[in-house]
Amino acid sequence: MNSAATPTFVDISSHLAWFKSYAAEKTAQEKGDTSPMNLKLRHSLNVLENARRIVEGEKFDTATARLCLLAALYHDVGRFEQYLRYHTFRDRESCNHGQMGVRILKAQGCLKHESREDRKLVMAAVGMHNRFALPTSTPPLVALITNVVRDADKLDILRIMDEHLGGPAPYNPTVVLQQPDDPTIASEAVLRAVFEHRVAAYAALRCVNDFRLLLGTWFFDLHFATCRRKFLQDGYADNLLRSMPDSVPQAAARDYLLTLLDAAKKDAQIPACR
Ligand SMILES: [Fe+2]
Repeated sequence: MNSAATPTFVDISSHLAWFKSYAAEKTAQEKGDTSPMNLKLRHSLNVLENARRIVEGEKFDTATARLCLLAALYHDVGRFEQYLRYHTFRDRESCNHGQMGVRILKAQGCLKHESREDRKLVMAAVGMHNRFALPTSTPPLVALITNVVRDADKLDILRIMDEHLGGPAPYNPTVVLQQPDDPTIASEAVLRAVFEHRVAAYAALRCVNDFRLLLGTWFFDLHFATCRRKFLQDGYADNLLRSMPDSVPQAAARDYLLTLLDAAKKDAQIPACR
């Protein structure tokens, strides 16, 4: 998949224009608070940029890079319809937004100028980007494209959560997936995931501090060195973890994760935060 002819620029500008106009049209249909939809537009564009950074850093060939960028741009296209219909981003309480995205891509025909094979690959990645884990039977090229999207997605969700949980404003319940900000409780399953170097599951969350830990565990599930480096350089996970006081039941797991991240930074020759 790697090639010496690394693309410095893959043009998907017509798709970008379509996506922006679709997002604007859906946002105009919302009668209430449109900020969650604005957030998803910005998120999609940032995930696209993160994916561009990965395909360049990993020296993908032009054709593969283009598929990754299309999948990154469209990965959350289902979020707009999901929010319009259900006013939540919790899939369990509404719909699977990856599958919703595939239905929208088909109905809107925005991939109609791509080859049949490319359409299938992009839609497969959009449909699977939000699975907890990819099935082992996933074809290698689908897995590669989907993993670029998943890595790029994680980097930007960390930014959003750090901005959101680090600021003085009260939490937007939609952004923290309606988790209570209760400093006295913790999810045993999330704590276990930290010590076993596994990604914690959304379904295991019980409070906002669990969410902070879960975001830190994403470091265990990054597929590309370019992405691991960016994760460490950005420092969003560090900020999220350090903002938990020592009195919370997550404190030991927090310290354990911070030590791991500091060691990874040392290996990558990135200065530690503390
Ligand atoms: Fe998503």
